Amino acid sequence: MWAAWTQGEEETRALAARLAAGLEPADVVALIGELGSGKTRFTEGACRALGYAGRVRSPTFVLVHVYRGRLPIYHFDLYRWELPGASAELAEWEEWMDGGGVSFVEWADRLGTALPERAILVRLAHAGGERRRVVVEAPPDRWARLRPHLPPGEEAGETATREAAGAPPPREEG
Ligand SMILES: Nc1ncnc2c1ncn2[C@@H]1O[C@H](COP(=O)(O)OP(=O)(O)OP(=O)(O)O)[C@@H](O)[C@H]1O
Ligand SMILES: [Mg+2]
Repeated sequence: MWAAWTQGEEETRALAARLAAGLEPADVVALIGELGSGKTRFTEGACRALGYAGRVRSPTFVLVHVYRGRLPIYHFDLYRWELPGASAELAEWEEWMDGGGVSFVEWADRLGTALPERAILVRLAHAGGERRRVVVEAPPDRWARLRPHLPPGEEAGETATREAAGAPPPREEG
């Protein structure tokens, strides 16, 4: 697990671009965080780095947008999605997610157990004003290849303790 704060949407996009450089076909980036926490800005930053220069907006009503980058990009937004009765949709999405593209899934927590185990979890949370707390996790084998792409951040133990203690962001030195 990796964690850091971003200040303003540009920093969130820049972080996403770093992560995107390490993405591989069939990766699923699960974006979890409340309204306005930056899930779409994160996706946008990643899309730019993947070579897609067009508009990136939450596909809130259509559920998925498909973009062309160096890989096909599937951008999901499950805010309005109801799991009951949607199994046909889900089967189709799983086929897309397992294919040669990369997927970004806003509100991925709504997938429940249908979220692929290999997913890269990106948790975003409001931390006051334009500050966001960003936590990235992935299964160990995937993490080993992804971690080198991320900037220095807090690693597991320290973060867990800090969050458990409800500690505020550390002050910048100097
Ligand atoms: N550090 C930050 N990172 C990302 N966005 C930020 C940050 N600070 C401020 N913002 C603002 O917060 C908003 C984030 O919007 P965004 O659409 O990315 O959120 P979202 O999580 O996708 O919301 P929704 O759940 O409605 O889809 C934007 O207006 C952006 O300018
Ligand atoms: Mg969004």
